[in-house]
Amino acid sequence: MATTGKAGADGAAANGGPGAPVAVLVIHGPNLNLLGQREPEIYGRTRLGDIDRALKQLGRELGLKVETFQSNSEGAIVDRIQRARGRARVLVINPAAYTHTSIAIRDAITACDLPTVEVHLSNVYAREAFRHHSTIAGIVVGRIMGFGAEGYLLALRAAKRLIETQRAAASA
Ligand code: DQA
Repeated sequence: MATTGKAGADGAAANGGPGAPVAVLVIHGPNLNLLGQREPEIYGRTRLGDIDRALKQLGRELGLKVETFQSNSEGAIVDRIQRARGRARVLVINPAAYTHTSIAIRDAITACDLPTVEVHLSNVYAREAFRHHSTIAGIVVGRIMGFGAEGYLLALRAAKRLIETQRAAASA
């Protein structure tokens, strides 16, 4: 999960100082705290802490402030999305098992008007039928799945593009 590259041209501004707006919020849902130990043949051997470190490193290279959050609780995830309202520019989320059940997480994303990238480590369509349905698929900008931990880094690059598009639209 090595990242490469130099700091983005707008890095300093986007990184800001303490209290600067969070540009990208990354949320990991239930059981993802066990990554690396949990069913490694499906989810890989990379631990969540390693993913979060790689995201922050790539964020620095792309000139984005990245904040990460994991919870096993649906309500805590809804609360965290609400706190990002008006602060985060893009949400990257792997709702894990809540992907398949949570209308509350879908409603929170819609209510907070957050452009969102959905991530899954595994290709859910190659797995059990109950994993094929996502409550958020219809409201996200795009979905990345099947690339393991690397998928989060791909999602962050997608977030960077979304932020650039927002900026271009705002200055047009
Ligand atoms: C997952 C897929 C979900 O079906 C599962 O419940 C998870 C992880 C993934 O990243 O592949 O916990 O979201």
